[in-house]
Amino acid sequence: MPLFSRELGIDLGTSNTIIVEGNQILLDEPTVVAIVVYEQKMVEWGRAARDMIGRVSDTLEVVRPLQHGVIAEYEVTEKLLRFLVKKVVGPMQLFPPRLMMTVPYGVTSVESRAVHEAGLGAGREVYMIPQPLAAAIGIDLPISTPSGNMILSLGGGTIQSAVLAMNDVVRAESLRTGGVRMDEAIIAYVRKKYGIIIGQPTAESLKIKIGAAVPQDQQATLEVQGQDQVSGLPKPVSLTSDDIVDALQEPLQEIVSSAKRVLEKTPPELISDIIDRGVALCGGGALLRGIDKYLTKALGIPAYLVDNPTTCTAEGAAKALSMREALSRSLLPN
Ligand SMILES: Nc1ncnc2c1ncn2[C@@H]1O[C@H](COP(=O)(O)OP(=O)(O)OP(=O)(O)O)[C@@H](O)[C@H]1O
Ligand SMILES: [Mg+2]
Repeated sequence: MPLFSRELGIDLGTSNTIIVEGNQILLDEPTVVAIVVYEQKMVEWGRAARDMIGRVSDTLEVVRPLQHGVIAEYEVTEKLLRFLVKKVVGPMQLFPPRLMMTVPYGVTSVESRAVHEAGLGAGREVYMIPQPLAAAIGIDLPISTPSGNMILSLGGGTIQSAVLAMNDVVRAESLRTGGVRMDEAIIAYVRKKYGIIIGQPTAESLKIKIGAAVPQDQQATLEVQGQDQVSGLPKPVSLTSDDIVDALQEPLQEIVSSAKRVLEKTPPELISDIIDRGVALCGGGALLRGIDKYLTKALGIPAYLVDNPTTCTAEGAAKALSMREALSRSLLPN
């Protein structure tokens, strides 16, 4: 039985939860839980629970306990976190682990306290780090130097634009919108253009399989099943990449506006560093085809996809555990 306490970085996201120890990813699963309504018992979690969305009777409730990066259902989150941590560390632990949990930039003290408390149900000591800072550490940006670095984190429920220097967030903005909002834009587009209603999982798969931020040379097509808006009967609809590009223009514009607002507030010395180094794109939304090209054009600064866009925030949180002193100004108070 190990006598030392394990150290875990945990990125509890709106869409996915990732747990990292050292440089090893121990868990990467959707933040979804299926609960039996009458006894509030968790019966399924992660991928299995996500695959149940929109497909279960009233006796089961399929819940995403985080909304826009913050805890929306406290008890479910606490239970899930305790379950996941136990799952990765195993039952034979003398001491509960030390945790570094990520929280979106700019959360309220009530929201961060909820994360801290939920963490204490699973760990011995709980630290909290703003997500853009964790992501920057996870992609090895030189943030301990005075030079400026910019990162855009495009998650399921949040969009965070941040400029970092000297181990701290210098300027940033967090929007309570993200990949889920893109799915909604696709649903609205298909309804308006074709009079067909599709569900969120279908919209998300259109976005991932054929979606793009800019028109593609290779036009892809996907046929999906929907419901006729007038008759209510099932009806297939065929969509192209260009359809999805059209549908996503408004949510993409929101990302641009947010990044521009942060750049406007950034001191000029840091701006010139950012122009040299480019803007790092992370989060699942950074995987949208052509979003680097789109943002490079819209911002006038090169934007690039990082190597580990979906795991960098959790990887950075795990690294931050051994950098606590250097990061002391930037970690959130308990
Ligand atoms: N190839 C892709 N193209 C576009 N979007 C994608 C792609 N792959 C995943 N996504 C989207 O990325 C989002 C999930 O990203 P991520 O796992 O970074 O979010 P999260 O960390 O759970 O959320 P948040 O940080 O907002 O709390 C989902 O909305 C998903 O649809
Ligand atoms: Mg995230």
